[in-house]
Amino acid sequence: MGLTKRSNINSLALKLRLAINVPRYNVFMNVLITGGLGFIASHTACVLAEAGHQLVLLDNLVNSKRSVLQRLETIIGKPLIFIEGDVRDEACLNALFKTHAIDAVIHFAGLKSVSESSQDPLRYYCNNVGGSIALLQSMKAHGIKKFIFSSSATVYGTPQYLPYDESHPTKPINPYGQTKLQVEEIMRDLAHSDPSWSMIALRYFNPVGAHDSGLIGEDPSGIPNNLTPYLAQVASGQLPFIRVFGDDYETKDGTGERDYIHVMDLAEGHLTALHYVESHTGYCPVNLGTGVAYSVYEVIASFEKAIGRAIERKIEARRAGDLPVYYADPKNANAILGWSATRNLDQMCASAWNFQKTSVSASSTKK
Ligand SMILES: NC(=O)c1ccc[n+]([C@@H]2O[C@H](COP(=O)([O-])OP(=O)(O)OC[C@H]3O[C@@H](n4cnc5c(N)ncnc54)[C@H](O)[C@@H]3O)[C@@H](O)[C@H]2O)c1
Repeated sequence: MGLTKRSNINSLALKLRLAINVPRYNVFMNVLITGGLGFIASHTACVLAEAGHQLVLLDNLVNSKRSVLQRLETIIGKPLIFIEGDVRDEACLNALFKTHAIDAVIHFAGLKSVSESSQDPLRYYCNNVGGSIALLQSMKAHGIKKFIFSSSATVYGTPQYLPYDESHPTKPINPYGQTKLQVEEIMRDLAHSDPSWSMIALRYFNPVGAHDSGLIGEDPSGIPNNLTPYLAQVASGQLPFIRVFGDDYETKDGTGERDYIHVMDLAEGHLTALHYVESHTGYCPVNLGTGVAYSVYEVIASFEKAIGRAIERKIEARRAGDLPVYYADPKNANAILGWSATRNLDQMCASAWNFQKTSVSASSTKK
């Protein structure tokens, strides 16, 4: 199935009234979203579809569930084009680009566990760097030169100053962060070699929360690595208590502080980035964070507020490699993209809990 004609897309977009916090824009694009059924990509797909863009989602389902597709279609209110495939599969990409008139690519597909990347770095370099090279090669062969990449605050490494701005030295302290930095460097070199490329690396801070519908959210397999899915599982009785790794940091209450960002704010950041690559060329990295650092205890308190009761906690030793505090300077996102985060910590926790109750506890997002 090919993409519908632009006139249809435009009339569809006119019918849709957006509830998103970014300016209206009247250019509609055909967008490939790699890793399209994953946590951040699925929320971005909602925002882009609501804004009138036409989407093709590609995912190999290594860390997502096919059932997310139906949930997305329920939210969006129309069928989506989904291709089960791997970004490293050249034949799959060539067929995709031949069939669908793609204008821009948002590349979320990647593996994201810091600890796994230290245990199995080859898998991470192969998937994250190899996958990005294969994708960029195929884009180049098909004359598609608008590219938005899911990078990460991990590219900065140990803070030399805070908040991290985009000029902060990049020195990742784990293979996962290295894979993100290497792709950024490839993008920069590509933009130098051919100024008609238009590329942004979005350096995400700590995405949390879920879509207001409660139909999509963060649903990791096994024991969650991240704080809010872990809290959600403790709150729903699947796990006994929250483990706090260190309460003796030099921070406001002794626990680690992070720049948590609502996944819907992050999704809206991608819409503004898409507008940007549509009308600019070159390469730039941009932080997507709130500029505010919340402590683990503040997140727990906010989650307790969302569920209306206390959450049991156990203090454990600091984890190796954890930074005491980091947060973004989001000024460039505002200056370049016209974007800033609008949702607060309580909204992040309430939406994560709503997703847990609506979807995860009911086990209905499983394959
Ligand atoms: N969640 C975070 O805390 C965070 C922070 C910074 C950056 N990022 C980056 O953002 C992107 C999305 O993260 P997420 O949290 O939504 O993760 P996610 O695991 O939910 O989504 C990634 C998706 O990509 C798919 N995928 C992985 N490798 C693939 C491949 N080779 N071919 C096709 N599909 C593939 C997975 O099945 C999954 O659906 C990742 O690149 C991640 O590294 C995430």
